[in-house]
Amino acid sequence: MNNLTLFCLLSIVFCCTPKNQKESAEKSPESIQRIAFGSCSRQSMKDAQLWKEVIAENPDVWIWLGDNVYADTEDMEKMKADYDLQKSHPDYQRLLQKTAVVGTWDDHDFGANDIGKEYPMKDESRDLLFDFLDVPKTNEAWARKGAYQTYTYGFEDKRIKLILLDVRYFRDSLKWTMDPKTAQVNEKGDILGEDQWTWLSAELDDAGSDMFILGSGIQVISKDHRFEKWANFPRAKDRLLNLITDKVEVPVLFLSGDRHISEVSKLEIAGYDFPLYDVTSSSLTTPWGEPAPDVNSHRVGEIIYPTNFAIMDIDWNEMRPSLKLKFVGKDNEILQDFSVSY
Ligand SMILES: [Fe+2]
Repeated sequence: MNNLTLFCLLSIVFCCTPKNQKESAEKSPESIQRIAFGSCSRQSMKDAQLWKEVIAENPDVWIWLGDNVYADTEDMEKMKADYDLQKSHPDYQRLLQKTAVVGTWDDHDFGANDIGKEYPMKDESRDLLFDFLDVPKTNEAWARKGAYQTYTYGFEDKRIKLILLDVRYFRDSLKWTMDPKTAQVNEKGDILGEDQWTWLSAELDDAGSDMFILGSGIQVISKDHRFEKWANFPRAKDRLLNLITDKVEVPVLFLSGDRHISEVSKLEIAGYDFPLYDVTSSSLTTPWGEPAPDVNSHRVGEIIYPTNFAIMDIDWNEMRPSLKLKFVGKDNEILQDFSVSY
């Protein structure tokens, strides 16, 4: 083989390797140790975004926990433009090149503040969310109503199942009182809808998982504040906790957003082997104005007011995972760190 022939053959090999195949191999989430997550990102606040900081932490996967854009519209062209603006941020583009990105939604990206199943454009909105997230067309979530999805990640012989819940598409109505605006309890109301409950129950049956991570736009454990939370739907919250304690024999961790504050909440259930933690990280761009006391009888550690995202390192040296969590702010300042051993 002369040099010219060799050059031609090499050229064919390089030209025929699809660029996206190489990228998807690099982005493969198969093996992960470091998870980053956050929520509540105003697409118009380009300079406030924390993508440079996220990239500097070098996570294996980024999880959106809702309010990924503030669309608040029934105009799908406007919503698409909002997603396009968010996605076009040069630093977010850099993140997409090197990190797997998944996510679910909350109210402002679903379509309107605090809204549930009554939002009229929810099917169109769901498709825009999945387009924004580049959910592969082969993912069975596309064929369902709503935005719930699952992903399995690994590290050596350990498996984590990430379950991203949809707390909007099927959610029953919520009533509010004013001054101050306060969400009321809907005693009989549901959050997930029967199809999603059936799916969740089957996902939690997976005996091959060494840990479950459940993402929810709204907080699962914190119950004392006046904003949206699972506690506004006590039947749904009890059903979720009963499902976990009845079926799951490995640690379960909740991740949530929405609140424009960050905190860790802890719930211990008598007779259940593992404490339940809910790690809330919010907001990526817009802090909650004046720092004010915010009651949470389940909080461990301090409440965090500045813009932030969260980083979680998972250590599998023991039989059970150990988690090292940190809330990271502007210029990668560590705002708080926290460890969990199961
Ligand atoms: Fe929200």
